[in-house]
Amino acid sequence: MYGVFMSYTLPRGTYDLLPPQSWYQRKVLDAFANMAATHGCGEVVTPVFESSQLFERSSGETSDVVSKEMYRFNDRKGREFALRPEGTAPVVRSFLQNLAENSGLTRLFYTGPMFRYDRPQKGRYRQFVQYGAEFFGSAHPSVDAEVIALAHDYLVSLGLPGITVELNSVGLPAPDGPYELALKAYYAPHHDELCPDCRARLEKNPRRLLDCKVETCRTIAKNAPLVLEYLDDDSRAHFDAVQFYLRELGVNYVLNPRIVRGLDYYTHTAFEICYSGLGAQSALLGGGRYDKLVAQLGGKPTPAIGFAGGVERLLAALEEQNCLPGPIPVPAVFMVSMGDKAFNAAYTAAAKLRALGLTVVYEPDKRSLGAQMKAAGKSGAAWAVIIGDGELEKGEWSLKNMLTGEQRNLSWEMLAEELAKKS
Ligand code: HAM
Repeated sequence: MYGVFMSYTLPRGTYDLLPPQSWYQRKVLDAFANMAATHGCGEVVTPVFESSQLFERSSGETSDVVSKEMYRFNDRKGREFALRPEGTAPVVRSFLQNLAENSGLTRLFYTGPMFRYDRPQKGRYRQFVQYGAEFFGSAHPSVDAEVIALAHDYLVSLGLPGITVELNSVGLPAPDGPYELALKAYYAPHHDELCPDCRARLEKNPRRLLDCKVETCRTIAKNAPLVLEYLDDDSRAHFDAVQFYLRELGVNYVLNPRIVRGLDYYTHTAFEICYSGLGAQSALLGGGRYDKLVAQLGGKPTPAIGFAGGVERLLAALEEQNCLPGPIPVPAVFMVSMGDKAFNAAYTAAAKLRALGLTVVYEPDKRSLGAQMKAAGKSGAAWAVIIGDGELEKGEWSLKNMLTGEQRNLSWEMLAEELAKKS
């Protein structure tokens, strides 16, 4: 009978989240919401599935995310959808549908599950949770620095040491831009050594070659020309100004001209925040400017910038550094009762104490005093409230401090008053 359930297994690359991990995740996501609120961000929640085309047109058909990793499906009417592999395109879609008339800067944040069919490994899942922010409506370089600072300050607020802000500018990608031409010239003699995907990418989008995970392509990419050497004057000026504002905010950063980002929509600023302890999956979060995406998806030209991070990598880093949020909540009160009448009284008393804001638990199936006291100790509760049928008749409730062992008899009113002070 039980064996029936054993045949269902967790899909590869996914995980169940149970206490205390589920509590850690909630804490860090709440902390992100609070940090985003200090920048005036409101929350946006979009569906977990969207039209496949939304991602094809934004992330780019040559990106791994779209070409290999998307969970696609047709609904009953044959419409093509995809589980969202990332949050930016859906947020842009929602901005266009709901907020495009906003003037000034629109600041949004989000958290939620994303889906990518990639080879699972440490820090890489097929369903993972991102936290992110997207700012629409300003091309001012101070906004780039503010968004980077939001991401950076959030990680610092969690007490995570060993993080590095890595900064780059990808300039203005264009089919025959100077950097694209330089890449084509560099790769031409290597054509036959490239993987089949990269051979196709060389024609369509040579920047994507820098992002290929195949070993031979990675080796060739090591000596490829660097984007910073091909920036136009405006991109250079913007990049310099972003760095000025980062210094103003006291955010330390290093330049990393090798940041390409795996998605096609970026212009100008690209950044990642890395943590050295995570091995291959060192990017805690990544983002950048995408000044052309809103227009590309049908809106009026609207500059924008944002970032997103994976909560699993963040929690792994926090665990490694011993700075997971704490302390894990424990019940305030454990109800212990001896006898049927006392059980009923304890049961309703628990509800009254909960209404005062206390966490109250009990063990309905453990009948002996010893077993219940043992369970009380195991629960971590600070207080045990003990009542027997005899004491109930006298109106005498016993309150035991589980830490010191001190025990006092009190009327129900006094007990409730005493515990209310501790809620
Ligand atoms: P991304 O670099 O593809 O960018 O993902 C951002 C972060 O999500 C990564 O740095 C990583 O922490 C996490 N992540 C990505 N894939 C996985 C995975 N398979 N398993 C676990 N964690 C993962 C974006 O998604 C862009 N939308 C970021 C952005 C926002 N750019 C502008 N605005």
